[in-house]
Amino acid sequence: MKAFVLRGGFGLDHLTHEDRPDPTPGPGQVLVRVRAASLNYRDLMVARGEYNPKLPLPRVLGSDGAGEVVAAGEGVVKWKPGDRVIGCFFQDWADGPVSEAAARSALGADRDGVLAELVVFEEGGLVAVPDHLSFEEAATLPCAAVTAWHALHVAGVGVGSTVLVQGTGGVSIFALQLAKALGARVLLTTRSADKADRATALGADAVCVTADVPAWEKWAWDQTGKHGVDLVVEVGGAGTMEKSLRCVRYGGHVGLIGVLSGPGTFNPILAVMKGVTVHGIFVGSRARFEAMNAVIAGKQIRPVIDRVFPFAAARAAFDHLAAGGHVGKVVLTL
Ligand SMILES: NC(=O)c1ccc[n+]([C@@H]2O[C@H](COP(=O)([O-])OP(=O)(O)OC[C@H]3O[C@@H](n4cnc5c(N)ncnc54)[C@H](OP(=O)(O)O)[C@@H]3O)[C@@H](O)[C@H]2O)c1
Repeated sequence: MKAFVLRGGFGLDHLTHEDRPDPTPGPGQVLVRVRAASLNYRDLMVARGEYNPKLPLPRVLGSDGAGEVVAAGEGVVKWKPGDRVIGCFFQDWADGPVSEAAARSALGADRDGVLAELVVFEEGGLVAVPDHLSFEEAATLPCAAVTAWHALHVAGVGVGSTVLVQGTGGVSIFALQLAKALGARVLLTTRSADKADRATALGADAVCVTADVPAWEKWAWDQTGKHGVDLVVEVGGAGTMEKSLRCVRYGGHVGLIGVLSGPGTFNPILAVMKGVTVHGIFVGSRARFEAMNAVIAGKQIRPVIDRVFPFAAARAAFDHLAAGGHVGKVVLTL
């Protein structure tokens, strides 16, 4: 079978498309023919050596894949050949808070990932594809959507909440769609005027183009009648955190997710004096994935796919993601 493997060093130039032996499922494991995969910013970080500079190579990349069960190993009761399934980002995190063991079971870093024609998953490391979704749509969910859902859920977002979403990438567009499904008002920032129109069409209640309005924290504060937002879905990291703490309400929440803005400093006293709860969000458990899928199925939510590439063109898909012009998810089809 073919797979995309990071071999011999970091950087996308070390991404090799190679033949590997077909894997076989052991006891409690399930063999899946991958039909679609999606890329995340995190995959770029892994490939560049920014995620874990000590990552042992070679490593099959990719955390997000959906496909059909081909064979079930000894003792497997949950899945049978032909079932449509999605792999969980963490293979060993069923429910509850994250543990060290769970955090070390991530696909495409700690373990070989899903950019392969055949992949072995743990029986408990799969969820069913919602009936209304294609494999391409289903493959967008494991990292970005579960992360967004996790951030909304721990902050108690619901009818009447206001959520601030930064940017129009995978996590952010899922945060927009899921927050709207929960009945929240969504404010969205983007660097690009073109993307602002897309965000509005996707349901954002107000959009700020940060190239025109760099003080987006003041914009968000004003949008809430100077009350502040209930939750910031923070994908910028250290460089945007101070602005996020300025526009969140007293007693509000920040879901700390990403590092897109690079290094920076922020004044922690803002979090102290506003009594802000900062949640470190690391994707989520299988139980969160299943709870999210129930909402996705109930509300018939369709993931936003920017572009689908053939599997063999994975390098072009990575380059497309790295260029940052996308809205939503970048997908590979097999
Ligand atoms: N903690 C976790 O478990 C977890 C899970 C998933 C992702 N992440 C992290 O979350 C971040 C987003 O991941 P993703 O896969 O959604 O990325 P992505 O699809 O590549 O989207 C990134 C988007 O964010 C916006 N952006 C870019 N630079 C920015 C900056 N300096 N400040 C604010 N926004 C910026 C851009 O949107 P516009 O062009 O519209 O501005 C860009 O399209 C990454 O840092 C990733 O590592 C963390």
